[in-house]
Amino acid sequence: MMLSSTNAKAKGNISSVFAHLGASTTKLDPRFVTLKKDICKTTDVLQASYDRLISKFEEEKKEIQAKGSSVIPEIHINDIKNNGGRLPDAVAALVKKRGCLVVRGLLDRTVAMQYKADIKQYIDNNRDVMVGYPQDQPQVWELYWTKAQAAARAHPHFDIATLAINQLWHGHPDTPIDLSKNLTYCDRLRIRVPGDENFALAEHVDGGSLERWEDPEYRKCYEEIFKGHWENFDPFDVTHRIEAEMDLYDAPGGCSMFRLFQGWVSLSDITPGGGTLRVCPLIKEQTAYYMMKPLLEDHKDQADFMGAWPGRCQDISATHHRPIIDTMVSLPTMQYGDGVFWHCDQVHAVEPKNEMKTEDSSVLYIPSTPMCRRNTEYLKRQRACFLAGITPPDFPGNNTEQHINERATPESLDTKQKIGMGLLPFSSSSLDDNSTPGQRQALKQHNDILGF
Ligand SMILES: [Fe+2]
Repeated sequence: MMLSSTNAKAKGNISSVFAHLGASTTKLDPRFVTLKKDICKTTDVLQASYDRLISKFEEEKKEIQAKGSSVIPEIHINDIKNNGGRLPDAVAALVKKRGCLVVRGLLDRTVAMQYKADIKQYIDNNRDVMVGYPQDQPQVWELYWTKAQAAARAHPHFDIATLAINQLWHGHPDTPIDLSKNLTYCDRLRIRVPGDENFALAEHVDGGSLERWEDPEYRKCYEEIFKGHWENFDPFDVTHRIEAEMDLYDAPGGCSMFRLFQGWVSLSDITPGGGTLRVCPLIKEQTAYYMMKPLLEDHKDQADFMGAWPGRCQDISATHHRPIIDTMVSLPTMQYGDGVFWHCDQVHAVEPKNEMKTEDSSVLYIPSTPMCRRNTEYLKRQRACFLAGITPPDFPGNNTEQHINERATPESLDTKQKIGMGLLPFSSSSLDDNSTPGQRQALKQHNDILGF
């Protein structure tokens, strides 16, 4: 198979993504004022919609602040297995409301501990070439090709969990996507030492920022919000997501794959306060809020999208997004091997400090990325990087693992790992009489793009 161009990005680390970690921002072009007016011509309807949204936030805030972390739905992996690979209806309804799910026992505790030990050894063995953020004492390592990461990404429980949550999404039968097949997205990892205050990520949203308004296809996902009917917005409709352009500015913060859910699996016992994830557990309302607010009458003449900058994440701040900030909650205690998944539009943050005295706060980032043209095209570029041992295309081009012999290679992968990485085809027998035209098209595109 041919190595395709990897379009390598500049060197750097995770701070390249975030304006609040020091990434540069620029003043927005006046054309964005015109864009606002094109999106919404009658701001009075939007204002009425906004007023209803504020009332809804007030109502929900009481429950969220009273219950805290326990509002985040959770399930044990065995309960998904025992339910035929589906979330029980009550859990599914909660995930649709909250946008996120904790999956207990995603990996066995001993497996997660072994992965971590292996990764730490890998770092120790190659410390002279390793980079991360912050540079002097990395907490987020620019590491993608450890064998432990390869194994975790293809762990059978990841399939079970992600395919269960993927089923919460829907689209037209002709939409070329297969929610029953996930491709492998190779992200980095975090080992956040006790007391660390460097890797504090303020509230933000990934998957682009200005692109949500600027790209005509991405914008369609939020049409009901712009029309003043946020209640009708369906966060789980893939129809206009699969061709949405999430990275118009080719910046290090852009994720080229369409992630239904971002996710991580814990390689520590992490308590609330232990430098863990925080989310806003109201997926429809919070999205409506940050999408609508820059378009309201009192802001519509300003070329400013409230925390959206070209090629950066969407920042969410108390200044502009108070109801969202007021409803943020930390994850409940996560144990070794527990996983969390959160919706691609979901506001999230990382607690400012790991307050745990002796335990590091460590995770492997692994999202849910279903088979569709966009994802397969990225997979092809990622495959080329994997074969060359260089950094995946979406990340700063440090290429630190290129000369490390103990990294994962095609020879070290099992069949399942190879399929996820695009080194072997998915079997056509995975389709049956119930498969949609869109699933069939997604598989054909996948095999064509990868040259099978
Ligand atoms: Fe993020």
